[in-house]
Amino acid sequence: MINLAVFASGTGSNFDAIMHAIEEGELEARVALLVCDRIGAPVIEKAQSYEIDTVVYNPKVFENKAAYETALLADCHERDIDYIILAGFMRLIGPTLLQAYEERIVNIHPSLLPAFPGKDAIGQALEKKVKVTGVTVHLVDDGMDTGPIIAQEAVAIEEQDTSEKVKQKIQAVEHRLYPQVIQSLFTKEESV
Ligand code: GAR
Repeated sequence: MINLAVFASGTGSNFDAIMHAIEEGELEARVALLVCDRIGAPVIEKAQSYEIDTVVYNPKVFENKAAYETALLADCHERDIDYIILAGFMRLIGPTLLQAYEERIVNIHPSLLPAFPGKDAIGQALEKKVKVTGVTVHLVDDGMDTGPIIAQEAVAIEEQDTSEKVKQKIQAVEHRLYPQVIQSLFTKEESV
């Protein structure tokens, strides 16, 4: 069985979608760990309701990023984690985790990268008045939302769409696409 660690900072709707896909047998993996960097984030309660091991560290209490990631790496190794799945984890991954999990850290981002990287991608798209935005799933490298793209799906923005409406459309795509793409990573590996 493939062991996943989900890293999340916020609401956890993508975490929920991953758990749901596992329950439905659409994603053949186990979430063995939830890592959260924000005390009190709603995703923590969600993980606890599924009885998933959870670690919540405030990164600021560590001496530096390497020390923070060394602690996370130990948590991952302890649970034989195969892949790290970023699901709304609003923090750049540093060399400690990147080297240990080379090409095994995946991120989902609410835009058609390379457009609108970083925070508030939906707000950035609305500000530019684009007619099409979307969702990108990519491997993580040392840049901000810059790694090799695995999958993308477009989402149309209609004239009358509020930012809440665009977010709903994007998240509906995310919740379907992310589990599928994660599953495809394992299948690809088997066929090599
Ligand atoms: C998702 O829309 C995800 O694409 C985005 O954060 C949201 C988390 O929602 N990630 C980024 O912007 C990463 N740069 P969730 O907590 O409900 O899954």
